[in-house]
Amino acid sequence: MAKYIFGNFKMNMDIKESTKYVEELLPLVKNSKNKIAIFPSFVNLMFVNQKLTASNVQLGAQDVSYDACGSHTGDVSAKMLKSVGTKYVIVGHSERRKSYYEKNETINKKIKQSLSEGLQVVLCIGETKYERQTKKVQQVIETDLLEALKGLYANELKNIIIAYEPLWAIGTGKLPLVKEVEKVIEIIKNKIKTEYSASAVKDVKILYGGSINSINVKNYINIKGIDGVLIGGASLNPVEFAKIANL
Ligand code: PGA
Repeated sequence: MAKYIFGNFKMNMDIKESTKYVEELLPLVKNSKNKIAIFPSFVNLMFVNQKLTASNVQLGAQDVSYDACGSHTGDVSAKMLKSVGTKYVIVGHSERRKSYYEKNETINKKIKQSLSEGLQVVLCIGETKYERQTKKVQQVIETDLLEALKGLYANELKNIIIAYEPLWAIGTGKLPLVKEVEKVIEIIKNKIKTEYSASAVKDVKILYGGSINSINVKNYINIKGIDGVLIGGASLNPVEFAKIANL
């Protein structure tokens, strides 16, 4: 089964570096059977998109405005993202939640905007270290899902990819146990089942993200119910990212 292999560049790489990256990556992954996407900075999207034409690598953005247009200085709309060739958009990444105090209510609006422009949403959810220690994982995952997906119709779920990213695992080299990821998959599926239906569960894709590299990915990518991985740090090296994309 083809897996989603997504690389979130975060605030790294200027135009020159992004170009060099794509030139190195494309030949390395051209025979990959997986669904590969890279998520460069907003300012590089258009240029990177030109480089990706006729390749098997798709384009994604790291965030989006919750509004359609208007007085939102510094924001980028879903329509703008779509117009430069973006297919996917990350919404609710923990770094946005933490640094910009993004709440599920805002994330919900961002999701609706993105879907209305035909973008596929990568919704990030996950618990903090403290929430894990105090056994709140289920509560956090369920609340995030309920609030972020509020008002969405079952037929929209096929355009939602849920990335389970424990906050304490992002950029730390720390990883959850396989059984912890399995438990979260079960929580997500059960919640979708109760809020929507058993058939809606089949439409929802689930990724794992947090300290994935080309070695440890093998332990996570084949977990039952995992459809792929969202990679930060290790995606910045095209050779390393290609190793994962070619699994
Ligand atoms: P990481 O980041 O792979 O560097 O831990 C993952 C993410 O933030 O999506």
